[in-house]
Amino acid sequence: MTPDLMKAGAKIREEHAKIVATRPASGGASYGRVVTGELDLAHGAILYLDDITVSFDGFKALNALSLSISAGELRCIIGPNGAGKTTMMDVITGKTRPDAGKAFFGSTIDLLRLRENDIASIGIGRKFQKPTVFEQLSVFENLELALKADRGVRSSMLFRLTGTQLDRIGEMLTLIHLKDSAQRVAGLLSHGQKQWLEIGMLLMQDPKLLLLDEPVAGMTDEETERTAELFLSLEGNHSLVVVEHDMKFIGELTQGKASKKVTVLHEGSVLAEGSLADVQANDKVVEVYLGR
Ligand SMILES: Nc1ncnc2c1ncn2[C@@H]1O[C@H](COP(=O)(O)OP(=O)(O)O)[C@@H](O)[C@H]1O
Ligand SMILES: [Mg+2]
Repeated sequence: MTPDLMKAGAKIREEHAKIVATRPASGGASYGRVVTGELDLAHGAILYLDDITVSFDGFKALNALSLSISAGELRCIIGPNGAGKTTMMDVITGKTRPDAGKAFFGSTIDLLRLRENDIASIGIGRKFQKPTVFEQLSVFENLELALKADRGVRSSMLFRLTGTQLDRIGEMLTLIHLKDSAQRVAGLLSHGQKQWLEIGMLLMQDPKLLLLDEPVAGMTDEETERTAELFLSLEGNHSLVVVEHDMKFIGELTQGKASKKVTVLHEGSVLAEGSLADVQANDKVVEVYLGR
């Protein structure tokens, strides 16, 4: 690693530590030692939410939300602003504690007993709406840092990439269409390329479940199409939950597979679930979302 990258890495970790330190304690509950065990997919579901309720000053952002995602599934989630889509991701990733309900990763890992950092480390990756790449570092260095994210600053500085890891970064650069920009400073990338880089950084950690909140917002049509291709290539090996408003993109993600489910959230619970054609033909969905 170059000295610049070492410095950047140390700074990033410092900032991260600050964010963690200032984060409000959730619900005042105490969480015991983390006992997670292996991800158990014997029953087919990688994510299981049951009757989740989240209240903010009496307002129910999530209202008895139940949802099940199969292992390897790519699930699209749509719904009007304020439906609770981001809050749902906050619950899955441990950022927000629900007032009631169950949330399981596989059939045995109780997400409501885990802290945010633990949830990330057991294989749930999240992409926020805004890209958060390290603008002063190159594309390659961003991926390199993501690969080493679980190391302390010291060991990260002493740590050299193995041939296998170099190969993995190379494969990732190809997958996210940034091979030709490997040495570019990330700050100079287009908005869409930054989004891809961030997705690549998430994938370096090899998450089992990926949560993507409005990943194509602000992308050009071509970038949006390439993003759909990328997500479709991940399906099967990863499970994906994609929240989006862009119906053309949802159409691309569900194309050719009538069985692929789309979930419509409204007022904190599931309004409809089925194929894209089913939900598009649903009167309630048209009334609250698509018809506007
Ligand atoms: N931290 C919070 N405090 C108070 N209200 C919130 C908070 N987070 C979300 N909300 C409210 O919960 C509802 C759902 O928000 P959100 O999950 O962001 O919806 P979506 O992502 O579907 O647009 C909205 O009415 C929003 O204003
Ligand atoms: Mg949102």
